[in-house]
Amino acid sequence: MRQAATELRKTLAELNFDETHAANLTVGKRLEYFRTILAPKRVGEGRHRHVYGVNGHYVVKVPADAAYRNINTAEWNIFRRRQRAGSKWSLPAEPAKCCMVKIAGTKLLVMERLSSVCTPDNKRKPRDWPKWVYRIDCCQCGKDRDGKVVAFDYGTDGGAFKR
Ligand SMILES: Nc1ncnc2c1ncn2[C@@H]1O[C@H](COP(=O)(O)OP(=O)(O)O)[C@@H](O)[C@H]1O
Ligand SMILES: [Mg+2]
Repeated sequence: MRQAATELRKTLAELNFDETHAANLTVGKRLEYFRTILAPKRVGEGRHRHVYGVNGHYVVKVPADAAYRNINTAEWNIFRRRQRAGSKWSLPAEPAKCCMVKIAGTKLLVMERLSSVCTPDNKRKPRDWPKWVYRIDCCQCGKDRDGKVVAFDYGTDGGAFKR
């Protein structure tokens, strides 16, 4: 995830994002501005966040409302816990890699882009996926670049990442 912040800034620059303009907006209007700027890159939408492609192998998650900002923070905290644990990670569940990037005072979550995603709409769950997937809300998981199954919507996780 080392390149994530650079790639997000590059993507925003290509879309003519105006950081000074963004910084002068209220939180809600600023999130709306991010969503408008990133609209051509849209890859998906959930109840709480709109998701857009970023250069390279990433997506960025923008809250649909200021009230949902804590979901990005919760995901980032779980992933940091996963990173710190290293080989001592004792849970079967694996979170997708992510990192928080602060732009114009707004925290955005950049996450590795997955393939074969299972969403509440498509419910695509290949049979060979590990059992812990069923402990993630609506099995919202996908495959990373190494073909490993990881969860992508785990900020409101009900159990799979509880200690
Ligand atoms: N890491 C990812 N890679 C590819 N697509 C993703 C990724 N994360 C989210 N998406 C897409 O964006 C949609 C919404 O993202 P999600 O994290 O589930 O938001 P919400 O918390 O609002 O449900 C997903 O259903 C999926 O289609
Ligand atoms: Mg979701």
